Amino acid sequence: MDNTEKQVGFAEVKAILDLLVKGREDNLPFVHGDAFGWADKAMLANAVARPFGSDPAFRLIDPSLVGVGRAKETNIYIALTVGIGGFERMPFGGPYATPEQLAVIAEWIDDGMPD
Ligand code: HEM
Repeated sequence: MDNTEKQVGFAEVKAILDLLVKGREDNLPFVHGDAFGWADKAMLANAVARPFGSDPAFRLIDPSLVGVGRAKETNIYIALTVGIGGFERMPFGGPYATPEQLAVIAEWIDDGMPD
């Protein structure tokens, strides 16, 4: 890590995700299933999107992709950039994450998801 730069922490990532779904929180469990969320780091680490209760389910962050420079291959990153599994880019209908927000999320995953 570069000492002149502060490492991205979970709180920063949570703030971005919270902002992206602002006003639509109540709909999230219905469309993504009950294992979807980021109330705390553990929940995000284990989060799965199961669109409308169907299969396949998408693990948002595959642990094998964490801390190894492969953040952009995670389902959360793909969902937020181009969409995954034939579903539209998230959050559905936008407004979408900015390049800066996406970079923060990717950096956090590549850093090993620090607290
Ligand atoms: C693998 C990941 C994901 C999948 C498969 C997925 C799938 C879906 C689907 C199927 C819908 C319903 C609209 C449609 O038919 O396309 C939806 C809605 C939505 N998703 Fe996702 N999603 C994923 C990740 C995310 C993430 C990471 C966020 C936010 C950070 C997000 C935010 C939303 C929002 C805000 C809606 C609209 C809810 C509403 O107001 O009805 N999704 N998603």
